[in-house]
Amino acid sequence: MAGACPVQPFKDKSMTDEQLLALAREAAAKAYAPYSNFHVGCAIESVDSEVVTGANMENACYRLGICAEQSALTAAQHKFGLDKVTRIAVAGGSGDVVCTPCGGCRQAILEAAQLSGRDVEILCGSADGSAVERHSIGELIPFGFGPANLDRPA
Ligand code: THU
Repeated sequence: MAGACPVQPFKDKSMTDEQLLALAREAAAKAYAPYSNFHVGCAIESVDSEVVTGANMENACYRLGICAEQSALTAAQHKFGLDKVTRIAVAGGSGDVVCTPCGGCRQAILEAAQLSGRDVEILCGSADGSAVERHSIGELIPFGFGPANLDRPA
């Protein structure tokens, strides 16, 4: 992680990357995306190996749509708390192009990372399961602004 967030190593994984990505792809199948027809799913794992999923949900008032990551982060907060988020899989879109989190979702993931002081691993998968990229939130949003900047520890 860049900036004020102290870094700790990633934890041992309980679920394989492929399993977490498969859950993200399953979640994408439950997206409500009639306007873009771009179906995205997200699976989030906690430090205690709990998993929640979410998908994008669009709206006739286009700007009110929410991304898969935001949907899953809301579920994560309710199930185990944002500060327990450790690994996130995002998958969807079309074909073999990996789906990476949009800027807003990166900011939302940074919130979770700074709350815990841990970097968050992000697996980005394609809709057809053929392509995967592995990133961390520190890499995807370097020098980000988060709760640490407001001097508001968890
Ligand atoms: N989308 C996500 O759910 N996550 C992202 O990180 C990228 C974009 C959704 C938003 C919208 O419903 C559709 O994909 C097309 O942008």
